[in-house]
Amino acid sequence: MNRISFADRVVLVTGGGRGLGEAYCRELAQRGAAVVVHDNGSDTAGHGVDPAPAHEVANSILAAGGRAVACATDASTETGGQHAVELALAEYGRLDAVVANAGIIHEDAFDDWPTDRFEALLRHHLLAAFHVVRPAFARMKDARFGRIVFVSSAAGVFGQPRLAGYAAAKTGILGLMNVVALEGAEYGITANAIMPMAATRMAMALMAEAAETPDGREFLDTLRVDQVAPVVAFLASEACTRTRLTLSAFRGRVAALQIGVTRGWHSPTGSLSAEDIVTHLDEITDTGDLLVPGSIFDEMSYVP
Ligand SMILES: NC(=O)c1ccc[n+]([C@@H]2O[C@H](COP(=O)([O-])OP(=O)(O)OC[C@H]3O[C@@H](n4cnc5c(N)ncnc54)[C@H](O)[C@@H]3O)[C@@H](O)[C@H]2O)c1
Repeated sequence: MNRISFADRVVLVTGGGRGLGEAYCRELAQRGAAVVVHDNGSDTAGHGVDPAPAHEVANSILAAGGRAVACATDASTETGGQHAVELALAEYGRLDAVVANAGIIHEDAFDDWPTDRFEALLRHHLLAAFHVVRPAFARMKDARFGRIVFVSSAAGVFGQPRLAGYAAAKTGILGLMNVVALEGAEYGITANAIMPMAATRMAMALMAEAAETPDGREFLDTLRVDQVAPVVAFLASEACTRTRLTLSAFRGRVAALQIGVTRGWHSPTGSLSAEDIVTHLDEITDTGDLLVPGSIFDEMSYVP
């Protein structure tokens, strides 16, 4: 098939100064995209500001003959997100795709989770996506073309102990994606998500000292950013005409998440008791014939 090209396309990548975001920026730039490398340079906890990571990635893309501009605003604020979108339009006159990738991490036992950390996780993942995608979406509606790539996580969708705030934010992002996909459909805007795994500073922060052991290093070596970046390039490209896809990508395997509902048990009378649930629980939870609703309306149509 033809090589996927981003010639004349402009892509904004939040959290583009490090880790997976940096790999996305480089992959997209190599394919001809003008990239807005957006990163406020915070530490993994979301503290501090450093424009260097965004500038370093943008400068190295420029040095390699590509097109890039750095932006170091905070995506978790309305003005920070708006500024990044305005910079794309001011520099390049258009914005074709957004990869809402910025994020932070914190772990704690659930009963110890500090409220301010929970709020910070929601802010730097969920609000950081909202504040960039909303102004971008308005522009894409006018252009009748757009590609939005959200970043979720298996730690949220399937669960990981000690990551309550992270899991809540990363799963909330899929709710945001669903609505953006449904509202974007008539304007040529797709909204999809990636669930990556890769050996980045965030992954190493979670592994703590274990990351420095031979076993830890061997494990991390199996999770490379270059096994994720091509999948994001596809989702951000014209070649991706599907919407509401969530792709899991790591170690060279790419798979699609399915959020479905079982056929279930339908009370013949329409009335039911708590005891009926006990009686029919196996039928209710039988995943043999899973339905995958495309919206709440599909889900309602399954129960006439
Ligand atoms: N690494 C993994 O295995 C993994 C797994 C699942 C999901 N993810 C997700 O992938 C994304 C990238 O993670 P990573 O592993 O590359 O982490 P990373 O820490 O290497 O990079 C994240 C970048 O986001 C930036 N950032 C954070 N908050 C920001 C804000 N408010 N505004 C602008 N920039 C901000 C940071 O400065 C940093 O450069 C995150 O959303 C993360 O949750 C990563």
